[in-house]
Amino acid sequence: MIVTIDRIGHLGDGVAQGPNGPLFVPGMLPGEVVEGDLQDDQLTDFRILTPSVNRVKPPCPHAKTCGGCLMQHASDAFVADWKLGIVKGALAGQGLTADFRPILTSPPKSRRRATIAARRTKNGALMGFHARASDMLVNVPNCQLLHPDLMATFPGLEALVKIGGSRSGEVSLTVTRSLAGADVMVTGGKDLDSALLLELARATEAHGFARLTWNGETVALRTAPMQRFGKALVAPPPGAFLQATAEGELALLRSVAMAIGPARKIVDLFAGVGTFALPLAERAEVHAVEGEAAMMAALEKGANMAQGLKRVTVETRDLFRRPLEPDEFKGVEAVVIDPPRAGAEAQMAVLAKSAVPVIASVSCNPISFARDAKVLIAGGYRLDWVQVVDQFRWSSHVELVARFTRA
Ligand SMILES: C[S@@+](CC[C@H](N)C(=O)[O-])C[C@H]1O[C@@H](n2cnc3c(N)ncnc32)[C@H](O)[C@@H]1O
Repeated sequence: MIVTIDRIGHLGDGVAQGPNGPLFVPGMLPGEVVEGDLQDDQLTDFRILTPSVNRVKPPCPHAKTCGGCLMQHASDAFVADWKLGIVKGALAGQGLTADFRPILTSPPKSRRRATIAARRTKNGALMGFHARASDMLVNVPNCQLLHPDLMATFPGLEALVKIGGSRSGEVSLTVTRSLAGADVMVTGGKDLDSALLLELARATEAHGFARLTWNGETVALRTAPMQRFGKALVAPPPGAFLQATAEGELALLRSVAMAIGPARKIVDLFAGVGTFALPLAERAEVHAVEGEAAMMAALEKGANMAQGLKRVTVETRDLFRRPLEPDEFKGVEAVVIDPPRAGAEAQMAVLAKSAVPVIASVSCNPISFARDAKVLIAGGYRLDWVQVVDQFRWSSHVELVARFTRA
């Protein structure tokens, strides 16, 4: 059958109207005319009869097989519009509109943190990303996403898989670029014993990794895997949250700083290891709140060691169960809030009733953001603008900063 693609679905598939409802065709763009065989809600063995003007040659040679990127066949301008549209659509779903600033997209080869899958094979190791909707591994020596420093760790990661991977299951390697070299966290590896421990320590040394964490245990620490946040240096605990690209982090930080203006007393909620709290402490007193005690300890240590910061206080607290209460916002001139994908329903309900003059809301999920925005607006806040930040290039992920002020 022949169909015309109407839109892009939330997982990046082209969506057309089929005989029995929506029909999904991977790798297609709106306006494209496609011929293929109908199988359930999919079109298989398809070919493009009329390509879109937005179609480009994928910059990555692995794009056809690798499931790491979904939108390499679309122009940058198309992807930017599509991502803005995702956020606008989520707001519209709550009956809201906003002023949008031009999207800020991280460049290719800038991802400083990635999780790579691997399997030990008879003669070595197979490593890469999963093929789309499959457990097949695709080797990605020319990946256009990862920072060159991450690509340079591949031989070392492969060595780890050969040493401690199992042939029956997959190993997951999370690698993060740090000032001191790669911070590597492996899960799914063989159980540790003294021989394995020794071999892993040797490999860490040989390949210059800063730290190696194996199945949750730090097995080698050559040097602390420091990250810089403004004037502060922080050694995050293994697996701690970090923004995906340095460029994306800077875009988010600048937008947050612009949103809160000259506020001198700030509360940073869901603070992580201090991405916003520490640079903002160069000009304001900051109270940072986060659920993970190890992350709070790392932030506090970084603040204590740094020169020239205003007062930084930290608090480990589950903000879903125990959001900050209204009296805890007394005298606070701005709140930064950056929750996980679920959003911050309970905390937003309290903030909606607060007198905090400005809220910088950072989100990685437009749906929970729009829901939370509605709560703030119902409480008397005005949504001034939204800045969309794309640090997950060629994927369906999107992040944003929004400024809310007391109307
Ligand atoms: C999107 S990250 C943002 C971290 C930080 N703002 C940054 O940009 O690096 C969300 C943070 O919320 C924390 N978190 C998740 N659930 C939480 C909860 N129930 N209470 C407090 N913090 C939580 C996570 O540990 C994580 O550090």
